[in-house]
Amino acid sequence: MAAFFLVAGVVVVAYLIFHNICVKGKTCKSSVKLHGKTAIVTGSNTGIGKKTALDLARRGARVILACRNRHKAEAAMAEIRRETGNNEVLFMQLDLGSLKSVRTFAETFLKTEPRLDLLINNAGIFMHDTTEDGLGMMFGVNHIGHFLLTNLLLDRLKECGPSRVVNVASLGHNFGKIDFNCLSTHKETGVCKSAIDMFYIYCNSKLCNVLFTHELAKRLHGTNVSCFSLHPGIIETELGRYSKSLLLVLLKPFSMLFFKNPVAGCQTTLHCALQEGLEPLSGRYFSNCTVRNVYPKARDDAASKKLWEVSERLCGLS
Ligand SMILES: NC(=O)c1ccc[n+]([C@@H]2O[C@H](COP(=O)([O-])OP(=O)(O)OC[C@H]3O[C@@H](n4cnc5c(N)ncnc54)[C@H](OP(=O)(O)O)[C@@H]3O)[C@@H](O)[C@H]2O)c1
Ligand SMILES: *[C@@H]1O[C@H](CO)[C@@H](O)[C@H](O)[C@H]1NC(C)=O
Ligand SMILES: *[C@@H]1O[C@H](CO)[C@@H](O)[C@H](O)[C@H]1NC(C)=O
Repeated sequence: MAAFFLVAGVVVVAYLIFHNICVKGKTCKSSVKLHGKTAIVTGSNTGIGKKTALDLARRGARVILACRNRHKAEAAMAEIRRETGNNEVLFMQLDLGSLKSVRTFAETFLKTEPRLDLLINNAGIFMHDTTEDGLGMMFGVNHIGHFLLTNLLLDRLKECGPSRVVNVASLGHNFGKIDFNCLSTHKETGVCKSAIDMFYIYCNSKLCNVLFTHELAKRLHGTNVSCFSLHPGIIETELGRYSKSLLLVLLKPFSMLFFKNPVAGCQTTLHCALQEGLEPLSGRYFSNCTVRNVYPKARDDAASKKLWEVSERLCGLS
């Protein structure tokens, strides 16, 4: 019996050490307060978006939960208000899979809110479908919706500088490529025939996030708006909910042990949003609260410019 408890104790301690070193990752060190500042967090009813919104609310920010589902968002809003005592946490409806919804959101926001200090483009989806505008779902939601949203809010961000745009990308962008021919024929960054294609199309959309950030930083040169992209870690969230992939089902028990929890998962987002002095690194990519070099394809000037122009056309900005 004693031997059993000894072994169990050793296993638990070993796991905790392993978890702290290999899973958890660094924590955002900034203690900055955000009273009088306004932040938008997209996709903040669950996952790392919710924990990001919670942290910003705890620092005193006015936080707009930009979510598609009123019911889920209001539940998150009540929870965040209760946990932080901050009642300036509000819901505004935003479906990134609808250009019309993005425009309505931006109009409402600009009419009712005088400030914007932080735009956290966090929402993401891993699912094969088509948006109401006929775009591929992952390209449409993960990239185009956020591209349009950011452009519509850019003047307000400029007026409120120093301000920041944070784009939650993924390590998966390394597997991505932007096939402009496919984009012009399918309004999607890939053709989905199997589960593995779906993974690649997701990665392509995440490469779009990194290239968008690269180009945005150039266009923001000389303003007081900076922007960053990031990999949040591998986190136990609802991201895999639409996937029937056996791999994800089999991973489930392991994910509880080896994946970050959402609080650990939002630290790099918070770092990019809050850490003092990051402005000279505008346009760069972060992971584990640290700036990282990306492969040439993720900082390709020609590709990022072309993606910007295609994106403008697809969302009717040009
Ligand atoms: N989890 C990971 O391991 C991991 C790794 C790398 C990168 N990421 C990135 O991290 C970000 C957050 O993901 P998560 O892991 O927290 O996933 P999650 O738990 O699935 O949360 C995703 C959020 O995005 C929202 N969303 C999806 N489609 C939307 C739409 N059309 N309009 C508005 N909101 C929409 C979801 O709303 P509903 O609840 O209404 O669906 C949800 O609030 C994503 O950009 C993801 O790509 C995650
Ligand atoms: C994050 O960085 C810290 C310090 O550099 C390191 O000890 C830790 O192992 C890293 N964690 C992850 C999950 O990458
Ligand atoms: C940026 O901020 C500084 C310091 O607040 C200010 O002096 C400068 O005019 C701002 N620049 C622009 C382009 O708004």
